[in-house]
Amino acid sequence: MEHMRYRKLGRTNLEVSEIGYGAWGIGGKQWLGGEDQASLAALHRSFELGLNLIDTALAYGDGHSERLVGHAVRSAPHRIYVATKIPPKNRIWPATPTTPIADVFPPEYIVYSTEESLRNLKMEQLDLQQFHVWTDAWAHTEEWRRAIEDLKESGKIRFVGISITEHEPDSALETLHAGLIDVVQVIYNVFDQTPEAHLFPLCQELDLGVLARVPLDEGGLTGAITEQTKFEPGEFREFYFRGDRKRQVVEHVEALKRDLEGVPGALPEIALRFCLTHPAVSSVIPGMRRVSTVESSCGVSDQVKLSPAVIAILKKHAWYRSFYQ
Ligand SMILES: NC(=O)c1ccc[n+]([C@@H]2O[C@H](COP(=O)([O-])OP(=O)(O)OC[C@H]3O[C@@H](n4cnc5c(N)ncnc54)[C@H](OP(=O)(O)O)[C@@H]3O)[C@@H](O)[C@H]2O)c1
Repeated sequence: MEHMRYRKLGRTNLEVSEIGYGAWGIGGKQWLGGEDQASLAALHRSFELGLNLIDTALAYGDGHSERLVGHAVRSAPHRIYVATKIPPKNRIWPATPTTPIADVFPPEYIVYSTEESLRNLKMEQLDLQQFHVWTDAWAHTEEWRRAIEDLKESGKIRFVGISITEHEPDSALETLHAGLIDVVQVIYNVFDQTPEAHLFPLCQELDLGVLARVPLDEGGLTGAITEQTKFEPGEFREFYFRGDRKRQVVEHVEALKRDLEGVPGALPEIALRFCLTHPAVSSVIPGMRRVSTVESSCGVSDQVKLSPAVIAILKKHAWYRSFYQ
């Protein structure tokens, strides 16, 4: 089996696996069709393959993802770094520039939410606590900073990050300039390459860690979605791929596959390698509820980065749209 490689998570100096574990799907509720025993088997297999970073959130299945992650981490063969997120207190995703921070991240709520996550995980300390929504309108407000400093001082968190709004990679730049934030998490994939313009160069300049999330476009870039694909009623992807969106995805993926003819490797693996080829990226965090997807994704780390010629092909397949609304 291939070997996992590791990269520095920016100035945190944590050495994280190039493939991290996206733990939204295993929370259930928003992603249906998974099963806890299969998720635990997938987590354990990822550890065997050298994965040492998990991204979860208090909101994923109302703590269910965190509880599964905590359970798996306790019997892991090596140190696993756990990142989680503080959901917006008003439960509205995303935040907008007119959203008052007092409605979303009041300081006592930041502390309460962190303690709730630690209880779910059965841990004493989070390696990375992230804000699950953000807007630069809050860049220079003070109270959230004090809450984070207090959490660091009390040892409940080590580092802090922002999970940047869908398809708006420039919506936190001012906050990053202002300091305190160590890591960003952002949508980066073959379809959405927009973080390359401003966010990635700034992260490189400031030495911030970058987690590339939704690397497979919620499944669109696996190549497995057809016009006939059915999602469970009420599941997030039924919404994301609604109307004629499956047809649009199929058209884009077919065009991509045609251009990639002769390039070795399966589409999802090329899509993950695309993310890892950018030097600003610290770790790519695909959602993986099955051992087979864990094995395929983790195997990517050992493969050579994509050549400039293949990157040039993929550049042409950027597709700017938002399916989250
Ligand atoms: N606002 C936020 O902060 C936010 C929002 C979205 C996501 N995230 C984070 O980013 C992570 C990744 O995003 P996501 O899970 O939504 O979507 P994703 O990673 O783009 O896609 C996940 C899908 O890809 C499949 N898959 C994974 N590796 C594969 C492979 N090698 N071959 C074929 N299929 C593969 C998975 O299959 P199976 O699951 O069936 O194995 C799942 O159906 C999340 O889990 C979460 O940690 C954060």
